[in-house]
Amino acid sequence: MDLLHRVLFTAFGTLTLFYVVVKISLGYWKRRGILHEKPKFLWGNIKGVVGGKRHVLDALQTIYDTHKGQAPFVGCYALLKPFVMVLDLELVHNILVSDEGYFTSRGLYNNVNNEPLSGNLLQLDGHKWRSLHAKSVTVFTSSNLQKLMPRLVQVSKIFGGRIGEQKLQQLNVSQLVDGYNIEVIGSLAFGLTGDQVEFRQMSRSYWNNFSLWRAYLALELPLLARLLQYTSYDELATNYFYNLVHAQLYQQRLRDRQPLQNFLQLFSAADDALSDAQIAAQAFGFILAGLEPLNATLGFCLYELALQPDLQDRVRSEIQQLLHQHDGQLTADSLKQLKYTKQVLNETLRLHTPYPFLLRRATKEFELAKSVFVIARGNNLIIPVAAIHRDPSIYPDPLRFDPARFEAAAVKARPAMSFLPFGQGLRGCIAMQLAEQQLLIGLVALLQHHKYAPCAETQIPLQYDNRKLLLMPKTDIQLSVEYVDT
Ligand code: HEM
Repeated sequence: MDLLHRVLFTAFGTLTLFYVVVKISLGYWKRRGILHEKPKFLWGNIKGVVGGKRHVLDALQTIYDTHKGQAPFVGCYALLKPFVMVLDLELVHNILVSDEGYFTSRGLYNNVNNEPLSGNLLQLDGHKWRSLHAKSVTVFTSSNLQKLMPRLVQVSKIFGGRIGEQKLQQLNVSQLVDGYNIEVIGSLAFGLTGDQVEFRQMSRSYWNNFSLWRAYLALELPLLARLLQYTSYDELATNYFYNLVHAQLYQQRLRDRQPLQNFLQLFSAADDALSDAQIAAQAFGFILAGLEPLNATLGFCLYELALQPDLQDRVRSEIQQLLHQHDGQLTADSLKQLKYTKQVLNETLRLHTPYPFLLRRATKEFELAKSVFVIARGNNLIIPVAAIHRDPSIYPDPLRFDPARFEAAAVKARPAMSFLPFGQGLRGCIAMQLAEQQLLIGLVALLQHHKYAPCAETQIPLQYDNRKLLLMPKTDIQLSVEYVDT
């Protein structure tokens, strides 16, 4: 055989093999006889998402809207990877809460040996997650959060002062809230005080090295990826965070009986103490799991309030009344009085839910009650949170921003599992209470003395960034800001 024939033969063989692998992969649900969304060759059901033409929320919502009510779940594909999309809220409850023992994995990639910071709660599964989770729940308690609250309030006051007293200015609100959240995380999770320029820079650059295809392969073939020592984050940034935590822990241990100011102290004093590498991974978890959703929530919230000044005035007067009653002091108890502000936050988390889906992996075969269906061991599951939050049968006129949806009676009338911005159950957000405090205290600092309104640069209607899996604005949110002396 001459060279040309050999090349043609090899190319034909490779293409045929590729075609067969794709066909077999995309035939999984058909072979199992399960209702499924018809996949497109190679793309599965996320055509347009990978290239940034549409947001993953849109792809998931289309599948949810098409099949809801037909079966408890529907099969679908992210590229060649089969997923169970859960459609029925009772089944969501089984998976997240009552039968959570079958679904304790999330199925994300981690490589603790080559990248210790990937040993955080979000990424870990199995016994490593279980043991770290058991230790971490003793740290994220209400009483610890109460003790850390004065530090959080202190940071928020410094931040509030920085917004300035100009009568009128145009501000990049996305950058503004990013500054606040980075400062809180730097202070509470990494024990930083004072200047945080490098920390801020690293918190923005740890994804620099990201490649969607490598990440996909790592999810599909984690053993091979670990063998090839594949890591997920920028090395410079992760080294910086790792070394920072070591240096901070070293300094803290030299001092005796310091007042409680940060999570590093709590993690290293826990009964069943974490190793320094585990503590570094948990501190990094604040940035990885918390920073973008906190930024998005505060940014979207100010945007919605800017569009509805009457709602904004109501929030501001509730905040001013609270501060007046308590001599300007904020405590965990006094925050509970911010009922309307909390409704506004919840409505933001419903409409612009930062994590538009939750992931689970079945660690054992699960038989659905009163049904012939089975979720097989190893199946990956998607809970389409954003689609549930926009389901008109649960939230009428779902795209309207209306905080009245979170009045107590309205919440009670809705089915369980219809509001899941922080997930639920054992693998739900471990820092939900902290995040809610940080958001509420942030809103106090942002709204106490400032009014927000749309300006020429405000993008209305707001668009999401299709290149992100989280719901983030496509461009920074710009608003005009007026100082109000009270
Ligand atoms: C608006 C802010 C936040 C939102 C909306 C949010 C939402 C979520 C969601 C949806 C999950 C997955 C839950 C599930 O699978 O059931 C999660 C997990 C997690 N979140 Fe948050 N989060 C926020 C802030 C934070 C912050 C500030 C931290 C800082 C420590 C944090 C730490 C974590 C961790 C460690 C996990 C993984 C828990 C586990 O698997 O054991 N989150 N979060």
